[in-house]
Amino acid sequence: MASKAPQAYEVDVNELDGTPEQQAYMKDIIDQFTIDTDYLKQVRDHFMVEMKKGLDKEGSTVAMIPSYVEGRLTGKEEGHFLALDLGGTNLRVVLVTLEGQGKFKTVSSKSRVSEELKMGPMRNLCDYIAECVDTFLTEQGLEDQEIELNLGYTFSFPVLQTKINRGVLSTWTKGFACSGAVGKDPVLLLQDALLRKHVPVKVSALVNDTVGTLLSNAYNKPATLAGLILGTGANGAYIEKMKNIGKWKGGKTTSDEMIINMEFGAFDNERRILPLTRFDNKLDRESINPHAQLYEKMISGMYLGEITRNVLTDMIDRELLLKREENTSFAWSKEISRHWSFETAFMSNIEADNSKDFAYTKEILDTNLSLHDITTTEAKFIKKICELVGKRAARLAACSIAAIVQHCGAAEEGCDIGIDGSLYEFYPSFEDRMYEALSELMPEISDIRKTIRLGLAKDGSGVGAALTACVAARMENARASA
Ligand code: GLC
Repeated sequence: MASKAPQAYEVDVNELDGTPEQQAYMKDIIDQFTIDTDYLKQVRDHFMVEMKKGLDKEGSTVAMIPSYVEGRLTGKEEGHFLALDLGGTNLRVVLVTLEGQGKFKTVSSKSRVSEELKMGPMRNLCDYIAECVDTFLTEQGLEDQEIELNLGYTFSFPVLQTKINRGVLSTWTKGFACSGAVGKDPVLLLQDALLRKHVPVKVSALVNDTVGTLLSNAYNKPATLAGLILGTGANGAYIEKMKNIGKWKGGKTTSDEMIINMEFGAFDNERRILPLTRFDNKLDRESINPHAQLYEKMISGMYLGEITRNVLTDMIDRELLLKREENTSFAWSKEISRHWSFETAFMSNIEADNSKDFAYTKEILDTNLSLHDITTTEAKFIKKICELVGKRAARLAACSIAAIVQHCGAAEEGCDIGIDGSLYEFYPSFEDRMYEALSELMPEISDIRKTIRLGLAKDGSGVGAALTACVAARMENARASA
């Protein structure tokens, strides 16, 4: 399944009118945000170098974390599993029924994680999660189970795993900053909270969302090579040969392949190649994790709106946008001056605008940011800026896919890549723009869409966690009978 996103309607550069100063400004912005084919290739090449570094030694920027998920799926995996998904915008509890033959059913409940929980003590967050699991089990009539239910915990942060259900959080990302969690095992912290509440659940697998996405895609597409998340955050996982994981010290495995959680959001934190603009630097400096996750900050949903806002406010400050002689109080600029007020969802809607005189764009700005009476010239500028930021994200994201495919030598044979996340699913033309960049990066492939098959892996976090719990059981049996 391709993404469900609508088409983006791009603004022709020749249609950008305005004063000579405005035009000069727009020209400069277009230059800064446009990445040509040669530059894309350099980013991809550097990505491949960093992948190798990460496989060879601990502590590299792209962490390349062995997931302890060994071997491939058979597609016959079956059973009932509980899955928990923490790390995007919502917390989800999912009951997954794997039916074999790549089929599954899910029932789930969703709740928002408040900013207070994201920034407070980890104990409070775990207690909240345990409460959500408890409520879900009651709703599903599963609260009085004799046997403990197995739970796959999709915890989507950089965790250095030491077993399939053990690991240590190395740092928070995506706006989380709970105290008392870094350096600790998220499984033990959650298991304690479940015990405190007498919830009959055993956390049996710890999974990154990218690993889950890869597995859920592979459940019915055996040629799956990688899983990506392009949502609030951005990251990827792929299947690597054990012999290439130079830093592996985990002893004998049950297969010669293992899934690697790349943690590629941190790619190029050293700033060697990413085409960072002053708007990216501003965002980074003002974020709660400066100098970290630089690639993620250029390509994921949590940040794109803020980059766009940084350009818009710069234009406003230079009196090139929203200059209103009659309004000296600048009351209209209050909302857009607020950090994070320009959501990536607004960009999505603006990019899909095909209305006459940009009426829809004007309406979005009016309703959400109290920007009244936007002129058509201004609406065009704003739409163009959304397009530049959105397109750059898709093109840079494509570099990671090209790097994985080329690193694994999969370009000739072709492969499936499962992708989940709001940006990929809903952002206009995100997938088309990625394909376009992929064909520039790999011109030797004649039909890019048929060879590097991107597809929506719905509910990678839920189904993937259940599948990981299955693989965990299989590995345990293989070890017991070895
Ligand atoms: C962040 C996390 C990573 C996760 C990604 C997508 O980059 O560090 O673990 O996979 O977001 O949710």
